[in-house]
Order: sequence, then C-alpha cells, then structure tokens
Amino acid sequence: MEPIKIVDNVYWVGAVDYDIRDFHGYLTPRGSTYNAFLIVDDEITLVDTVKHGFEDELLSRISKVTDPKNITRVISNHAEMDHSGSLPGVMRAVGTEKPVYASALGVKNLNGQFKGEGLNLKTVEKEMKIGKNTLRFLETRMIHWPDSMFTFMPETGILFSQDGFGLHLASVERFDDEVPETLLEKLAINYFANILTPYVPQIAKLLETATDLIKDTKIICPDHGVLWRKDPGGIVSLYSRWVTQKPKKKAVVAFDTMWHSTEYMARELTDRLGSLGVDAVYLNLKHNHRSEVATEAYDAAALLVGSPTINNQMFPSVADLLCYLKSLKMKNKIGAAFGSHGWSGEGAKLVQAELKTMGYNLPVGEVRVQWVPHEDDLVPLKDLAKTVADEIDKVIGA
Ligand code: FEO
Repeated sequence: MEPIKIVDNVYWVGAVDYDIRDFHGYLTPRGSTYNAFLIVDDEITLVDTVKHGFEDELLSRISKVTDPKNITRVISNHAEMDHSGSLPGVMRAVGTEKPVYASALGVKNLNGQFKGEGLNLKTVEKEMKIGKNTLRFLETRMIHWPDSMFTFMPETGILFSQDGFGLHLASVERFDDEVPETLLEKLAINYFANILTPYVPQIAKLLETATDLIKDTKIICPDHGVLWRKDPGGIVSLYSRWVTQKPKKKAVVAFDTMWHSTEYMARELTDRLGSLGVDAVYLNLKHNHRSEVATEAYDAAALLVGSPTINNQMFPSVADLLCYLKSLKMKNKIGAAFGSHGWSGEGAKLVQAELKTMGYNLPVGEVRVQWVPHEDDLVPLKDLAKTVADEIDKVIGA
C-alpha cells in the first residue's frame, strides 16, 4: 500500500473501500475512500483516520513515509465513524499518549464513542505551528455534524475539508484531473443531495463568510473521493449553485406498484410531462434506490409520488422513500400524489398528506384510480401533468 504525494511533505495515506454499497442507507455503487493525510514537519501530523477495519491499510501507507511511532499528533476533523472508527487502533500504533486534537464538540463526541480507550483528546485553539507549517482550524458546525471542522495549511494552500466537497468513488485515481469532469459532477451532486442537503443554510453561510479562506485555497482535500487540485474553485462554484436549490424544468415520478396499475399511471404521467417539455424522470422503486431518487429530485422542480394501497397503508417502499426525503428537507418543490387501489384507497391520500408535512407545494389533490386504469381514468392524469407543468413554469419563470 503506497502513499500518494500531494505536495512536498504532504501525503494521502487513506484507504480505498471498493466493496461498500450501503453507506448508512445511502447507495454507493462505486464504493468510497476514507482519506487521511500525513504532514511531515517538525511535528509529524496525521490529519484524520479511516473506518474501523482499514487500520492496516492506513498504517501500511504511513509506514512507507515514516514509522507510525514518529507521528506526534493527530487531528480529527470529524468524529463520524467512517473517519474516527480506527482511532483507538491507530493510536495504539502511534502511541496513546500522543494528543488527538479536535473541536470542542469533537472532543465530546470522541469521548462518547471511545470512552475507556485511553485517548489523549485535546481541543484545538485557532491555529498551531507544526514546524515550518501552520494549521488553522475553522469550526464548520453541522456541516454536517456538530463537531465538524476544516483544517487549513496556509503555506501550501491545502484545505482539509472532511466531508465537505467529498464524493463516493473507490478508484486508483486520487486527483480531480485524473477522472472525467462529468463523472465527478454527477458523483458530487449525488453526495451533496444525500449527505449535505439538510445543512444547506450552514453551507451557504460558510461560502459567504469564508471567502478569504476559499480564495487562498489551492488544493481541497476532502475525506472522501478525489482531491481537488486542478480546479478547486470549480467544486466551490457548484456548491454555490446547489445551495440556492434553484429548480430546473424537471419532474421526478417515483413510485412502487403491486399489480402494474400504479406503474401504468406513472408511465402516463411521465409521458405527459415529457410532451409538455418537462424533463421527466421515471423511477420505479423496485429498481431504484431511495438515494437515487434524492439525487434526481435535488434539482427537480416537482416530485410526483405514486403508491398503491396495501392493508389501508401506502406501500412500504414509498413510506421508506418519504421518510428519507423528509429528513433531507429539500426546498422549493412542487408535490403530487397518485396511485391505484382496490377498495379502501388510503395509499395516495397518505402520500399526499406526507408531502404536505414536508412543505411541498401541492397544486391539486391526489389522483386515484380504482383497480386498473382505463381510457377515462387518464383524464385526471393528463390534468395533473398539465397543472404540474404549468406550476413548474411559474416557479422557474419560463
Ligand atoms: Fe464521512 Fe460524516 O462522515
């Protein structure tokens, strides 16, 4: 396991997880990396660690640069387990008497997680000298945990940004200039939509207030995915756009189906929306993960959710989707519910009610079809598609 040089005396020493697919409920079809960084200066400093189980990979890469026992301090930018899980094992190799620096809330959270492991946790000041280089710390609370912080190294212009500006991609490539831009943007919006959406207000504020830091940044080193050295301003610009949550002329039709009737309704709606000039995305929950729906919904103006009725309830997969989307707190969305039923018909009604609690703008009531849709059942679906398309035009100012 080889370290990768970022600049003189700064190395990527993280781990590549080719196999992870479920990242706490979020689909990671291309795996991920847990990035960690070694700075060789008078104080040999490790910035972040890796998920439990990847200690040997981290230590193996570090050992190609120096004996882990030569590390004199560790910085923990974020206490979530994918970065802190290996901390006890790593500190046993480094020396448990060595300090682990974190934000005040990081110390609290790490203490909670690793009580009894004998970690020497210390709260960071605003900055520390480690020899020729300086580390400056910026708390980034709730981006995306209370403990989160950035570490900036002004002499190199490297910003260690923990989860911020990250993406999930397991590959041999470490830098943005080694991966096609279109793929990076796709993976970055997927990550942003599923991890960072609830914290958009905090991110928008950070982008406004940390302008000097951003201006001085030459390389962004997040804790997942590629390191942004070719165009760090590019990913910052994308974040500036995404925090506005400005929708496109796009609608997502997400649904599940029992005996194809709700599926038929979803197809009809998708076709109608498409014929009205809306970019309509058809997502059957039998084949599409909740996090794929979230990614597609992020820049869509409308989300149409379809559910059959089963035992007086909406379909479990639809409930799962709505629970997930509710937690992401997306703004500026038009919503609509639809679905078929046999006799009681609560499914679509419950979806409509849930979309309302999520703060979606619901221009019409739910559209329900009993049993199987026939030609005359298509009229309300056509009307729904037309209303949604008109509302989208109003929202985007077309
Ligand atoms: Fe990559 Fe919030 O952990």
